[in-house]
Amino acid sequence: MSQRIKIKALLESEQTDINVIVKGWVRTFRNNQFIALNDGSTNSNLQVVVDFENTDPALLKRLTTGAAISVSGLLVTSLGKGQKVEVKAKQIEILGDSDPEKYPLQPKKHSLEFLREIAHLRFRTSTFGAIFRVRNSLAFAVHQFFQNRGFIYLHTPIITASDAEGAGETFHVTNFDLLNPPKTENGEIDFKEDFFGRPTNLTVSGQLEGELGAMALSDIYTFGPTFRAENSNTTRHLAEFWMIEPEMAFYDLNDNMDLAEELLKYVIKYALDKNAEDIQFLTQRLEDEEKQKPQQDRSEMLLIEKLQFCLDNDFERLTYTEAIDILKESTPNKKKKFQYPIEGWGTDLQSEHERYLVEKHFKKPVILTDYPKQIKAFYMRQNEVDANGRETVRAMDILFPGIGEIVGGSQREERLEKLEQRMDQMGIPKDELWWYLDTRRFGACPHAGFGLGFERLVQFVTGMGNIRDVIPFPRFPKNAEF
Ligand code: 4AD
Ligand code: MG
Repeated sequence: MSQRIKIKALLESEQTDINVIVKGWVRTFRNNQFIALNDGSTNSNLQVVVDFENTDPALLKRLTTGAAISVSGLLVTSLGKGQKVEVKAKQIEILGDSDPEKYPLQPKKHSLEFLREIAHLRFRTSTFGAIFRVRNSLAFAVHQFFQNRGFIYLHTPIITASDAEGAGETFHVTNFDLLNPPKTENGEIDFKEDFFGRPTNLTVSGQLEGELGAMALSDIYTFGPTFRAENSNTTRHLAEFWMIEPEMAFYDLNDNMDLAEELLKYVIKYALDKNAEDIQFLTQRLEDEEKQKPQQDRSEMLLIEKLQFCLDNDFERLTYTEAIDILKESTPNKKKKFQYPIEGWGTDLQSEHERYLVEKHFKKPVILTDYPKQIKAFYMRQNEVDANGRETVRAMDILFPGIGEIVGGSQREERLEKLEQRMDQMGIPKDELWWYLDTRRFGACPHAGFGLGFERLVQFVTGMGNIRDVIPFPRFPKNAEF
């Protein structure tokens, strides 16, 4: 190993007047003298000062934006503004040239749309460097949170034969020759001949298998990729996204909500502490962006304030039914400003309704519970029918400002009879889920869990408006580049 020091460590170093070796990519080179060098370890660039009078002009020419270089020199206190220390270069080696005529990243502000088209290079911008360092910290904090509490990290399968959410929006997995698949006598595709001997798909959720783990290990969590073939081109949906799904034996819905709220606060706090500089940068970025908007569309809080606010306040908890009453009486509903007016009880909330509750009415994160049975998955625990004959389930969704639904979860239906009844009603094949039902046959117990959409969390913490900008290589309809 060379004596290379990463720029983050160097900038934090107490020592000066020492020889150092740094390596990184040139962000800018100005006045034939000052290199702004970045190696991804931190948002800040290191200023490298070149003694241009004693440097080969041919080498100076190769110090272009994007070039990879190695510098050895003296770390000194900087006299210039903007940095405490800088490196006076003694020797510079070009490790990889970058033709400035062809390099797509210019030292100027590029649009996020443009950067999405060059996602292989966008890590090299300050914005994406910050986003992916924050994403990394959040992932680490998720593990730390659960590990500190004795949860077991369980790896649920990526390929499954079930559709946990019952939504049917799955990607098939097959190794058939699609032009010529084996057929049965009736002319149908013969999945018995397929790799797994049956139709399979990429998982939409690890929950059902997670429940099996919780029924022995007590507290488990998954943290892995999930796949949904929903054709939704929104700023909140991906076809491949990462989900954190804890599942806990002996938890009821209140325990479940407490855990989710604690988890969110823990990981946000972790990122605020660990990535202060990145979040400061992203806050500034967002503030600049907001200045382009008309006053009434600007958010009331800076990013960093919004995160702090979320830590300092209890999430508002109320039932779906209470939320509907609020929405019915709300000004936008009365003035017919909602695209989907709130008419009665029982329909799913649209994002405009969620946003109203979170951003206008409560002005803080909200947890909605006890949704109508009709709009939720089969595995949620059924409540007693209420006085008005309304059927609800022990569901909870956490809604965040600017994001909408960030967490979806429930207490699970542990009563075999009730569960089977519901599966019959919804046309979910019981024989295929025999293993799931077994947990209700042998030692069933109250249990609960939830799913946290990791990218939506990263969106919240980085303030990025589009989910495609918080995952390295987004997958969405008609796009699987890189
Ligand atoms: O609400 P969902 O569909 O719930 C489940 O999958 C349950 N099995 C979770 C559980 O109880 N274990 O998804 C959970 C979360 C959502 O709240 C949202 O944050 C995120 O996953 N999510 C998506 N994120 C990005 N792109 C998509 N297409 C998403 N669909 C859901
Ligand atoms: Mg949901």
